[in-house]
Amino acid sequence: MIEIIKTKAALDARLSEVRKSGKTIGLVPTMGALHAGHASLVERSVRENGFTVVSDFVNPTQFNDKNDLKHYPRTFEADCALLERVGADCVFFPEVSEMYPEPDTRHFSYPPTDTVMEGVRRPGHFNGVCQIVSKLFYAVKPTRAYFGEKDFQQIAVIQAMVKDLDIPVEICPCPIVREQDGLALSSRNRLLDASERLLAVNISRALFLSQAFAKTHSVRETRNYVVSMLDALEGLRVEYFEIVDAKSLLPVESWNDAGAVQGCITVYCGKTPVRLIDNIKYK
Ligand code: PAF
Repeated sequence: MIEIIKTKAALDARLSEVRKSGKTIGLVPTMGALHAGHASLVERSVRENGFTVVSDFVNPTQFNDKNDLKHYPRTFEADCALLERVGADCVFFPEVSEMYPEPDTRHFSYPPTDTVMEGVRRPGHFNGVCQIVSKLFYAVKPTRAYFGEKDFQQIAVIQAMVKDLDIPVEICPCPIVREQDGLALSSRNRLLDASERLLAVNISRALFLSQAFAKTHSVRETRNYVVSMLDALEGLRVEYFEIVDAKSLLPVESWNDAGAVQGCITVYCGKTPVRLIDNIKYK
């Protein structure tokens, strides 16, 4: 059985022992509803560290939409089974009152990483992410922390926070894990019904097609190509698709504007609708 720890005090006591034994500590922060994407982060942490902690906490402060928080999938028993299978050492599963005994009044601001794309559409979201991730870093004091590149912007914000607060942790970005047909794995995928699931695959398909298209077309043409392909499908609505400098996250006008260029997309899928994100590397 995987060890379940519910309080910061118990976590601290357990991790002091681990540190005394000279082991490095890997942290995989999650909001539960674990899937193969999370498993790949945990497996990497297990390979690279002597002890792996996975946090499983649906963080209320990062939800700007309370309905989204209410419907966020919670599957703790299945999460524990998956974590045991992939060799995590313990799961940190606190109550909201444990992480927020008082309202967190801290404000984090790392422009432009947190003021573009998701930062515009989900006001307060990255502030909430920085609140919980900084609390987890202070509680666990990990050697390394693992984040999936599906949340490309989140990694940039967390890297800016770690630099700003001078937190001694190595941030390890990990590649997106996809279903066989290309759909990026996400806890939200389980909110899709069968027909929405079929529709959702068009997001990654459009991004992959655009990689080839981009070789002979401008940034603007590539952007329009993706947006018009997806908006033409009933049941999909592109919220934004931005082609950006992978470091600053600011939009580029030409492929030569940055050394690394990424396309980041958010699409509403289906009736509810479910908000899905994905991204692709152009260079
Ligand atoms: O990416 C997530 O699942 C969350 O934003 C994180 C990093 C676990 C913070 O709640």
